[in-house]
Amino acid sequence: MALLEVEGLVKHFVAERSLFGRALAHVKAVDGVSFSLDTGKTLALVGESGCGKSTVSRLVLRLIEPDAGAVRFDGRDLLSLDANGLRSFRREAQIIFQDPYASLNPRMTVGQILTEPLALHDLVPAPRRSERVSELLRLVGLEPRLARRYPHEFSGGQRQRIAIARALAVEPKLIICDEPVSALDVSIRSQILNLLSELQDRLGLAYIFVSHDLAVVKHIADYVAVMNLGQIVETAEADTLFAAPRHPYSRALLSAIPVPKPRAKSSRIVLQGEIPSAINPPPGCRFHTRCPYVVDRCRSEMPWLVADGIGHATACHRTPELPSSEAIVPMDGGFSPVLEKLVAAFSGGPEAARGGGVRSLGAAPTTP
Ligand SMILES: Nc1ncnc2c1ncn2[C@@H]1O[C@H](COP(=O)(O)OP(=O)(O)OP(=O)(O)O)[C@@H](O)[C@H]1O
Ligand code: SF4
Ligand SMILES: [Mg+2]
Repeated sequence: MALLEVEGLVKHFVAERSLFGRALAHVKAVDGVSFSLDTGKTLALVGESGCGKSTVSRLVLRLIEPDAGAVRFDGRDLLSLDANGLRSFRREAQIIFQDPYASLNPRMTVGQILTEPLALHDLVPAPRRSERVSELLRLVGLEPRLARRYPHEFSGGQRQRIAIARALAVEPKLIICDEPVSALDVSIRSQILNLLSELQDRLGLAYIFVSHDLAVVKHIADYVAVMNLGQIVETAEADTLFAAPRHPYSRALLSAIPVPKPRAKSSRIVLQGEIPSAINPPPGCRFHTRCPYVVDRCRSEMPWLVADGIGHATACHRTPELPSSEAIVPMDGGFSPVLEKLVAAFSGGPEAARGGGVRSLGAAPTTP
């Protein structure tokens, strides 16, 4: 049995109200999302800014209530949990964010920050708590003597280690990592990713890993789900998806990852057409305004996510007839403004870029 099973999750937010408070428009932030995740595995959620990744994360943790759908965790129906059930679930599933500084109380020492969840959930008797804090700090590669310091005395990477230690304090089974390394310097990112991998191996943790950075995702994920405007358009094992993406949207995104070898061939697929909004997503396939393979059917009929029998699922009417991803001839001759916009959006927008956000999509390789 999977640790986490998500089925048909829907969340629409009111985007605009009339003077009398009547909803005039909705953002279809999450619109029929299903996936499952096994113990000890990592599922990466990828997609452009605003496609619904963080909303899925918040729904899975029941920080917000869905409009429809089901979430089962360790066999329990999360949506029917009472206050006690929810409290114990909160121990089992944790979240870490892009900016650990914002989530660490600046007036508390690291020791106090780590003791708080131990006391709240009554996990360790009071006399043993400082020993447990030392263990947690060692687990994330920090010296126990640092427990006396305040968050502002640490670097960004160290603060993310503290946030990870705090998440681990309650011995969770699942950690949702929402852009955990995008605000960190490139040199620090791999240290945090390695730490997350080591902890997963040692403690059998499952991760949902939200990231704009496909190079990072490639490094850490077992499975990938590609989202577009509130829906999963493709999901598969990471190796399979990176080797041969099937959905035209995934192909375009993956074509923008730099190829490490200097003489390796790679070209970007240039998407034309306007990026639609989640407020009024287009009918039929939500990617049809930008898809190079669009046919009439795509404009009216929504494609369902269909699996191929070995766990690779794609939501595209034309999956069986599209050329294999290696056979695609990208349009060369510079990047269209639309693609630049797509890449900028997917790379985290100006905010992530300022914080040292993802460069992998921005730095486009050229065909030698
Ligand atoms: N509380 C809210 N009220 C109204 N709209 C919301 C709310 N939360 C999210 N949205 C909207 O829902 C959509 C999905 O947002 P979400 O934060 O899940 O995207 P995301 O994929 O995490 O984006 P990013 O990569 O920028 O973090 C966006 O259009 C966003 O503006
Ligand atoms: S369903 Fe049509 S528009 Fe959508 S991705 Fe497939 S070919 Fe493109
Ligand atoms: Mg987000």
